[in-house]
Order: sequence, then C-alpha cells, then structure tokens
Amino acid sequence: MRNRRIGVLISGRGSNLQAIIDRIADGRLDATIAIVISNRADAAGLARAARAGIETLHVDHKGYGSREAFDRALVAELRQRDVALVCLAGFMRLLSAEFVDAFPNRILNIHPSLLPAFPGLDGQAQAWEHGVKVSGATVHIVTPELDAGPIVCQAVVPVDGGDTAAALAARILVEEHRIYPEAIGIMLDGGWRIEGRRFIAGRGVDDA
Ligand code: GRF
Repeated sequence: MRNRRIGVLISGRGSNLQAIIDRIADGRLDATIAIVISNRADAAGLARAARAGIETLHVDHKGYGSREAFDRALVAELRQRDVALVCLAGFMRLLSAEFVDAFPNRILNIHPSLLPAFPGLDGQAQAWEHGVKVSGATVHIVTPELDAGPIVCQAVVPVDGGDTAAALAARILVEEHRIYPEAIGIMLDGGWRIEGRRFIAGRGVDDA
C-alpha cells in the first residue's frame, strides 16, 4: 500500500501511541502518524504526540448531539488527512456503524486479553479474576460488534500464581507495545485478505 498515513484515536495515557511513535522513529515501522485525536482534552497521549511533532486535535464527544454526529466529525478530520488506517489506542468511545463503514477493514484496535475471551472493559482484571493460566493481548480489525473483528496479531502472557491484576496488566502492556506496531506494519504492507472472520496476512505484496 503506497499510502502509509495513519490516524490514532486516544482517550488517555497513550502508551500504545508512544510505542507506535518510537517504532516509527527507530525505523522498524514504516508509517506516518498524520493526526492524533483525543475526545478528552487532558489525555496524556496528546502531549506525547505534540512532543513528537505530530498534529493533535481534541474533539469533545460531549459537544455533539449523538454518537453519529461525533463520529462524522472524526471521520471528516481523518479523511482530510488522507489516512489509510485508523488505529484505536485506548479510545474509550464505541464507534457507530457509520464510522466503521467509512473505513471498511481499515480500523485497528488493541485489546488487553486473548479475544474472544474477556471483551469489554478491564480485560486484564476479568482474566485475572476468572483464574485463567494464560492471557495476553489482541490486535483486531474493528467491526460494529465490540472487540469481535478479525484478529491480526496476538501475544500470550502467562498468568503467575502470585500475580495481582495490576502486575498482569503491566506484563500484558509490554506485549501490547510490541504487537501493535507490528500489526500496523502488516496492515500497511497489504496483500492480506479476510476469509470468513479469519485474517490472513500477505507476504508484503503491494496491493495499492
Ligand atoms: C490498553 O490496555 C489497551 O489495550 C486498551 O486501553 C489501554 C490503553 O492504554 N484498549 P494506553 O492509553 O495505550 O496507555
């Protein structure tokens, strides 16, 4: 794919955003972050982006009458920057079908569990409370159903008997930071396809 411009949507800390910024800076991910958008003005990720010289935007969801109206505003900003891929990185808003349809198979999300186990909020704590022996992280394509789209990358993290939920979350986060940039590279390289709900990676074939 010739266009390697991405848009990143955040709501908070932005450590996954930082991992993407770092991986681009060290040359291991060939991509350009065209814009970072946050629905919260106080998101620490906005400062991370600004420090890296990336354009940032605060779009307050409370300023819109409906989810669709907010999403239309986001889509317009992303389209203006001609992004090939939208990356959700701790973006705490559900996307409308309208948003998803605007970027078909072009929206990624990172989730802190081995999906389809433990979708929704606090995937790490859900896994820990359930007592699973392994958990991990998943990067998937976003579809209108929450945390349910085709899986691009996963990483397994063993659960230690002495773990706290917070310790498990910290170890999962390390893997998130590794696989999210990797998944972005796979998406941008193109040549992949989706069969049923299975994502099949390409071999670096240029599909643009
Ligand atoms: C991560 O745990 C991610 O998996 C989840 O939200 C958290 C965002 O963290 N979707 P950060 O803002 O990237 O630090």
